[in-house]
Amino acid sequence: MKNGIKLIAAFMLVAGTACAEPIVKKLPEPVLEGGRPLMEVFKERKTVRKFSSRPLDDQTLSEILWSAWGISHNGKRTIPTAKNEQNLKVYVIRSDGAWLYDAKDNALLRVSDKNLMPYFNQQNFMKAVPVNLLYTGSDAKYSPMHAGSAYQNVGLYAADKGLHNVVRGYFDADGIKKALNLQDGEEPLISQAIGW
Ligand SMILES: Cc1cc2nc3c(=O)[nH]c(=O)nc-3n(C[C@H](O)[C@H](O)[C@H](O)COP(=O)(O)O)c2cc1C
Repeated sequence: MKNGIKLIAAFMLVAGTACAEPIVKKLPEPVLEGGRPLMEVFKERKTVRKFSSRPLDDQTLSEILWSAWGISHNGKRTIPTAKNEQNLKVYVIRSDGAWLYDAKDNALLRVSDKNLMPYFNQQNFMKAVPVNLLYTGSDAKYSPMHAGSAYQNVGLYAADKGLHNVVRGYFDADGIKKALNLQDGEEPLISQAIGW
């Protein structure tokens, strides 16, 4: 319990004034079985720039996040990281605020109660997108590689489930960096719009 309170306090500190009150939202356990054959999924992975207004349910979101950055083996992740530093961060940007994925507790930690979706709305198809993932890191050489591994995993999960997704470099990186009050060299690297 004490650890939980410390974690929340740390996130309030990191998020600075971005967040009015700390909220931790537990996600359902991801289902780690089933799915289509791997070669079919590779073949189906693609960018689709068309979204309905259907929201992403928590089960699907949990599995998306686990694919991107979940813990899968010996405390390690679904993607490799240089020197096993595990220093990628994955944010969920939705109309109800911005959330940091906490893989260890399979939870979302709210880091902003503001709707930050406008920082991602540069292309017409973006208006209906329910979730933007934002990948951040502080290692100039390796963090972009980690983000690339994560968005590829999500792209493959999307192909398996029939979700639409677009990896997007075209977003307001400076704006979202300020809005999230990113510190200590943490930089927005790439985003990924995902929905039905
Ligand atoms: C690093 C990166 C940045 C991208 N940025 C954008 C973007 O800002 N907007 C967009 O519509 N597509 C973006 N894309 C998607 C590419 O245009 C798309 O992957 C490419 O056309 C190939 O299509 P495919 O993904 O269906 O194979 C990006 C892809 C990558 C890998």
